[in-house]
Amino acid sequence: MTTMETLSADASGPALPEAADIEAASSPETGGGPAAIPLLEVRAAGRSYEGRSGVRTDALVEASFCARDGEFISLLGPSGSGKSTLLNLVGGLDHPTSGEIVFDGVNLAALSGNALASYRAEMVGMLFQNFNLIDYLSALENVTLPMMFGPRPVPRRDRRARAVELLERVGLGHRLNHLATELSGGEQQRVALARALSKRPRMLLADEPTGNLDSKRAERLMGMLHDICKTAGVLVIVATHDEGLAARFSDRIVRLLDGRVTDEQFCRMPPARH
Ligand SMILES: Nc1ncnc2c1ncn2[C@@H]1O[C@H](COP(=O)(O)OP(=O)(O)O)[C@@H](O)[C@H]1O
Ligand SMILES: [Mg+2]
Repeated sequence: MTTMETLSADASGPALPEAADIEAASSPETGGGPAAIPLLEVRAAGRSYEGRSGVRTDALVEASFCARDGEFISLLGPSGSGKSTLLNLVGGLDHPTSGEIVFDGVNLAALSGNALASYRAEMVGMLFQNFNLIDYLSALENVTLPMMFGPRPVPRRDRRARAVELLERVGLGHRLNHLATELSGGEQQRVALARALSKRPRMLLADEPTGNLDSKRAERLMGMLHDICKTAGVLVIVATHDEGLAARFSDRIVRLLDGRVTDEQFCRMPPARH
């Protein structure tokens, strides 16, 4: 069954794969078999904007890369290099003006409005620099909220337990009832991470998630993203301009400059540290 078919399958959502499956799927030694099929293919994707004065901005130019389940990829580049543009295309929030985004073998351009909404709701989790929590809701409510919506809402009886489990997983079991405004920046981003995982996405997209955190909290968050990537087999793609963080946590760095992918670099992972 393909990912897109699972969108209309059972309401409880696909079970997270076992760590052993993920290792097999992400091990370079397994090459050749189905495990080598990329989850995501960005094929010569471009995004141009036509300004009011008729001046064209090429935010992204023929960007290509592939990514597999359980991989940790950093999009590394200075401000204005096209990182957010690329993440928005991959997340189905925007459409390329040239090229294709293919997820689990399906070209996003071929999806109807409803199917694209399902893709965004069920397959993709997103993290942003400014956390984007709802201020007047508690940590628990922020994490529970997305479970109520989308084509496959989480059954009411399961929502709270799942939210508590996720918040405990990000070290916030003691902050369940704090309002978003009563949490530190690092805590807010961890609530946002729990929220992003609430529908058990296959891919987590994080746009400068450590941009508003000090270095200690940035390390902690990246460690959590890495842990989720490797234990649940989620593909994680992080946009950052922090060379050191990218090198420490990524399997692969895709470099961007002036809207172009300039380089891809495989990293040797040090032992996990968090
Ligand atoms: N809506 C838009 N209209 C015109 N230009 C845009 C728009 N969004 C982004 N850009 C331009 O595209 C380029 C890449 O932007 P962006 O993807 O936000 O870069 P990054 O996330 O790496 O900082 C920048 O030059 C930016 O000014
Ligand atoms: Mg950006």
